[in-house]
Amino acid sequence: MTVMNRTELEKLADHLIVYIRKKPEEYFDWKRLEAKLNLDREQLDAVLEFAASWDYKIRVRKKLGVAFIAPPDSLTATEISHKLATRWLGRNLFCYQAVKSTNDIAAEMSEQGAVEGTVITAEQQTRGRGRLGRHWHSPTGTGIYLSVLFRPNLRPDNAPGISIATAVALADTLEEYLPNDVRIKWPNDILIRGRKMAGILTELSAEGSRINHVIVGIGININQRAGGFPDEIKTIATSLRREVKRKVNRVELLQKFLKNLEKQYERYLIHRLEKSRAKLRRYSSLLGREITIRAGKSLTTGIARDIDADGCLILETAEGEVPIIAGEVTIVKK
Ligand code: BTN
Repeated sequence: MTVMNRTELEKLADHLIVYIRKKPEEYFDWKRLEAKLNLDREQLDAVLEFAASWDYKIRVRKKLGVAFIAPPDSLTATEISHKLATRWLGRNLFCYQAVKSTNDIAAEMSEQGAVEGTVITAEQQTRGRGRLGRHWHSPTGTGIYLSVLFRPNLRPDNAPGISIATAVALADTLEEYLPNDVRIKWPNDILIRGRKMAGILTELSAEGSRINHVIVGIGININQRAGGFPDEIKTIATSLRREVKRKVNRVELLQKFLKNLEKQYERYLIHRLEKSRAKLRRYSSLLGREITIRAGKSLTTGIARDIDADGCLILETAEGEVPIIAGEVTIVKK
């Protein structure tokens, strides 16, 4: 028998799963599988063992053959690609068990020439980053941590709007699970009933007036239990499971989100946020409220009135209306 390396095993395990999952719970006999994958029985056993390490539920019977029972709750490339409905986003997909930060991996891949729409996911991040140098709590197997590489033909000052388009895609996705409860806290926190469920960290690389890449990193709290957050965030964070009171299939949610993100990004390239403004107003947790925005050392206070087509928050101040491109918001009056 020829011994297979990891890449070959991965590819064959992927083929095997795609093939047998077409008829769940039905046995595919050994001869049929050997012929389909062009393997001898010993090689087929090695492939099955490899597939089992991805936590697929597969039933193996000496006389009957092999049956697909159920997919795992893991973010693997095989699972995400299966039934992914995007045209280009996430078609170049890398799924890791544990990384420091998916945004770092995306930046490295960008340096090596990775294509627009490359997606990196991880089951766990050991140094997940939030905005303003904060840490993003990224425990294994419960959340979704992903980065998307974009190479838009836009000016660098159009990059923050991509982050807002991403927030719209995420809000649309979560709304399917929690109708009427999803809010965007400008620029890009997702809140449910006042608690943060997801955050977006956008990192730009540009030379002069040309964008080299925009990496959009998204962290979503999905299946953490109510007590599953560290003390520092336990009163301000929430998870989808906590809100909908059931475990949620992360792969399905991610597939829906990637589809929505592809749509919002394409729309942004053509119309900026013009066609999403009604939605942004509806989702906004800030409009009509008195807020202070900190951008570096500058503080601006006023009433949040609108969000424009570039994603700026329009603040009504004592000096008139001011568009704000980025910053950290504090609500003055509840
Ligand atoms: C925030 O709300 O402060 C932004 C959080 C962004 C977290 C995500 S998780 C995937 C990606 N990798 C990181 O290190 N950060 C982002």
